[in-house]
Amino acid sequence: MGASISNLSIYTSLNYIGGVFQQPLSSSFFQVENPASGEVLAQVEMMDPCHHESVVQHAHQAFQEWSQKSASDRSEFLYRLYQKLLDHKDEFATLISSEQGKSVIEAKGEVQYAANFFQWYAEEARRIYGDTIPGPSSKDKIMVLRSPVGVCAAITPWNFPLAMIARKLAPALAAGCSMILKPSELTPLSALALAKVFDSLDAPKGLFQVINGDPQTIGEFFCTHPQIRKITFTGSTEVGKLLMKQSSSTVKNISLELGGNAPFLVFEDADLDAAVEGAMQSKFRNTGQTCVCSNRFLVHDSVLGAFVKKMMKAMDTLRTGSGLDEQHEICPLINHEGLEKVKRLVTQAIDQGAVLHKGGQPLSMRNGYAPTLLTGIKSSMDIFKEEIFGPVVAITTFRQDQEALELANDTHYGLAAYCYTQSLSRSWYMAENLEYGMVGINKGIISDVASPFGGVKQSGLGREGSKYGLDEYVEKKTISIRTL
Ligand code: SIN
Repeated sequence: MGASISNLSIYTSLNYIGGVFQQPLSSSFFQVENPASGEVLAQVEMMDPCHHESVVQHAHQAFQEWSQKSASDRSEFLYRLYQKLLDHKDEFATLISSEQGKSVIEAKGEVQYAANFFQWYAEEARRIYGDTIPGPSSKDKIMVLRSPVGVCAAITPWNFPLAMIARKLAPALAAGCSMILKPSELTPLSALALAKVFDSLDAPKGLFQVINGDPQTIGEFFCTHPQIRKITFTGSTEVGKLLMKQSSSTVKNISLELGGNAPFLVFEDADLDAAVEGAMQSKFRNTGQTCVCSNRFLVHDSVLGAFVKKMMKAMDTLRTGSGLDEQHEICPLINHEGLEKVKRLVTQAIDQGAVLHKGGQPLSMRNGYAPTLLTGIKSSMDIFKEEIFGPVVAITTFRQDQEALELANDTHYGLAAYCYTQSLSRSWYMAENLEYGMVGINKGIISDVASPFGGVKQSGLGREGSKYGLDEYVEKKTISIRTL
């Protein structure tokens, strides 16, 4: 058992149901491991499906109570949650780094990112405005109310074990909804720690619940339960499609943040130093394990040599090792499967003619892979088509703008794209024609609480964060009145 993390005041391994941290009711558990060391951090109970129904009933009761609170009460609660996260920033960062593997510096950034969602939606909670619309006659008045969707279920990923919950929970609470969460089985402890902090505030029992168990069973239960009105998921496109299919039986309101295959375009007029800085941020954040990490570098033929030289120099500064040591930027991948995927994609690319300039092999640290740079990537290679989720810069060259655009759009995904050019007209042209939900022009980090996050094509449905994120948790109700 991870001695250091079990001493944290926010630590628990117990499911959180109806406002109670539930002592295990079954003998079925799964292990949470530190990806860097393999140390077992906790044993978490796989909740028996026979208890799922009671979770929905708690959520439903809490929804009845919470949705009747005033906007300012909800806002105040969210502010308090924001403050609580910041009060425990270092503890959360240690927990995130321990179970997810990311650098503790990035983990602190994640806690701030998560807290910002509670602050943002504390503000938005007061601004859930409706509309009045002129009716067909002078006696007819039409109004539109924005009312909470109801009981929501969330399924969240391991790569941001706290922030991806906050990005869903904060707008749900602001709108007046309750939420049942199933976090990734790889990183449940950050979610349970959030529940611990949540529990210290005075909220209706069951407003936020965290359950762990078999992902398929819980997913299907969420999708098919008629009292759960919404499902929100961040994770793979494959699982997103399954949830969408299963949700059709109850015509559920659904938001999906799915996979990406982000192109990073470097034109001949790019400021190469800025491009390298952006590439380093966008590629190596969380050791390459974000859905918005640059996956395919598309570099103009005339600047390839200069770009590669500068990238190699920048990559030389990356320090590898356990995330719990503040000095490290490149940390272990989440698990053996993640490592095997990166190995397969790189090996296959080299076998098919790609040129290896740097890295290209696992590190001696558990689940570690060396920062890698490849050129000569072709659109037929798997590394061009699949999300790498690792520290690999895979470069393809182009000669014409149209060719770059076609290569960039040659994917089923459409989450994030990046483009470096000093031409205003080229920036506009690319921004308008890249088939992506988010386009960064001359910047490598586009995620921000104020900025709508989400994709097109098979990267998902809906937007999170920003003022638009609230729309996912409200229904528009029409009231049509005739004055007599
Ligand atoms: C993700 O990888 O799904 C989220 C990344 C972010 O919010 O920047």
